[in-house]
Amino acid sequence: MSEKPLSPKDESRRKLLTTTAYGAAGIGAACAILPFIDSMNPSSDVEALASTEVDLTNIKLGEEKKVMWRGKPVSIRRRTPAEIAEAKAVDLKELRDPQEDSARVKPGKEEWLITIEICTHLGCIPIAGQGEYKGWFCPCHGSVYDTSARIRKGPAPRNLEIPPYEFVSDTKIKIG
Ligand code: FES
Repeated sequence: MSEKPLSPKDESRRKLLTTTAYGAAGIGAACAILPFIDSMNPSSDVEALASTEVDLTNIKLGEEKKVMWRGKPVSIRRRTPAEIAEAKAVDLKELRDPQEDSARVKPGKEEWLITIEICTHLGCIPIAGQGEYKGWFCPCHGSVYDTSARIRKGPAPRNLEIPPYEFVSDTKIKIG
């Protein structure tokens, strides 16, 4: 028994049904994927930890405050004019990881040095205000950093890292 050929009207109805079926299947797949994608977004708890605001008002000249950001210790150090002058006077040729002091602070805010306080050798936490240059000293293997947190002696290969941050006001920074 041979099938009757479809009339042009039947043919267009068949195309419409096929297109609708594919469309519905696509929407269904998208709906199934959406909760999965949403579950990949960071929760609000994690987003809150992604950045942290720090009030600077209680940090006296020559002092530092430590905060945690993304599980890392961050030092917020209010440098004295002498510490800034020392950091600026260094000849870059003397540095293992040459970087101007001005590249490590915000313009007009050179009093504030913000660094991730993790030694770039093997990850110990160096002690602020210690060492030959009165910057940081890492007792693990003797790395010495200056008042711009640049490596000056010992095995550490790089300066202490500067985290991303901005001044949200004269007395508050946002790290991250
Ligand atoms: S971890 Fe700091 S000197 Fe080795």
